[in-house]
Amino acid sequence: MRKKVLAGNWKMYKTQAEASEFLEGFLPHLEDTPDDREVVLCVPFTDLGLMSKILHGSAIRLGAQNVHWETAGAYTGEISAPMLTEIGVRYVVIGHSERRQYFGETDETANLRIKAAQKAGLIPILCVGETKEQRDLGETESLIVGQLKEGLAGVDQSNLVIAYEPIWAIGTGDTCDSKEANRVIGLIRSQLSNSGVPIQYGGSVKPDNIDEIMAQPEIDGALVGGASLQPASFARIVNYQA
Ligand code: 13P
Repeated sequence: MRKKVLAGNWKMYKTQAEASEFLEGFLPHLEDTPDDREVVLCVPFTDLGLMSKILHGSAIRLGAQNVHWETAGAYTGEISAPMLTEIGVRYVVIGHSERRQYFGETDETANLRIKAAQKAGLIPILCVGETKEQRDLGETESLIVGQLKEGLAGVDQSNLVIAYEPIWAIGTGDTCDSKEANRVIGLIRSQLSNSGVPIQYGGSVKPDNIDEIMAQPEIDGALVGGASLQPASFARIVNYQA
């Protein structure tokens, strides 16, 4: 059975004070969480050190939201993989559509970041997905195949998570139909050399749709934005009913 990975992506939300308050509310909900699933919090860089201390010894894994491909150098504003592993980070989101849209990231830079992350022992979560316009033009499949081909060129698929995040479903409340998400995720799996790679769905995942999403056979987890910011709502998501 493939590992289930439920990850929150906090994006640019939560100061350290807010992050500790979240954990105070969230941790008690995890006492009965089945161990068939991994719970990950991908948080702003500034929260990682403190959260790593609070979560020491807990089953929750920490994730960053980006990583540079060099280990060190004159790259103002960037963070390297060894800087993340030193403080206990295990996962890193790479190629999120917001990074592609607002910060000029490409499949090529995603590929470089994935390789650097893996080299340091981090598990990359590569995000792929189409815009509304691409979907309407019938380009979903070709776009995603291209993103995977370039993003995963030369990448070790034994240490990898992929997130299918249709851009039109992100932050809109317009969740992709679970059967359609299952179909696209099946297509993604058919492009991989390792069929054991966990593939998540992301885009308006909420407490009231997580059970249906997780009931789909190809879907191995979720990458959750807005609904990961409140302890009770993210707790309901990680405690989805199989
Ligand atoms: P929402 O869950 O807020 O739609 O965000 C999805 C996302 O972008 C997770 O990476």
